[in-house]
Amino acid sequence: MNENNASETVTPECRKIGRRRFLVRLSIALGSSGAALVAIPSVAFLLGLRKTPQIWRTVGKLDDFQIGSTVNVSFQDPTPLPWAGVTAQTAAWLRRESDRQFIAFSMICTHLGCPVRWLSEANLFMCPCHGGVFYANGQVASGPPPKPLNQYPVRIYNDEVQILTTPVSITT
Ligand code: FES
Repeated sequence: MNENNASETVTPECRKIGRRRFLVRLSIALGSSGAALVAIPSVAFLLGLRKTPQIWRTVGKLDDFQIGSTVNVSFQDPTPLPWAGVTAQTAAWLRRESDRQFIAFSMICTHLGCPVRWLSEANLFMCPCHGGVFYANGQVASGPPPKPLNQYPVRIYNDEVQILTTPVSITT
């Protein structure tokens, strides 16, 4: 047997080592790709590169709302995912102050984020989680909330009432 023939001979052991090496490299490549898919959006979010779009969402016709009443309105999240379903909906407390003036409060309590309720008889917002209470203007009346309820910008456009979707921070 000459030297050339010996080097071309592939033993089952060699094949096994080659396959193992291939599978190790494939695992590393797939693992790296998966890690990159998870890390890139997270890093972009942390660096502030990923901005949430602000979109005006219609919550009803102007005539749907009575002056002086505070009602719950729901609207779609600014960046709904195709599979989000009902979780793409968010909500706010909307009050018609005068003929063409509205005010919209976030439903998220500024303490730990529970949804606040409007108690029309008491003219107060109440948080069921730890007893936080807010006046009708959103200022803190009592309890643990450290700051007033956040507000959304509201506008009237073609006789429709619209709320500007904005990210609402819970705490400062
Ligand atoms: S979450 Fe509202 S008072 Fe704590």
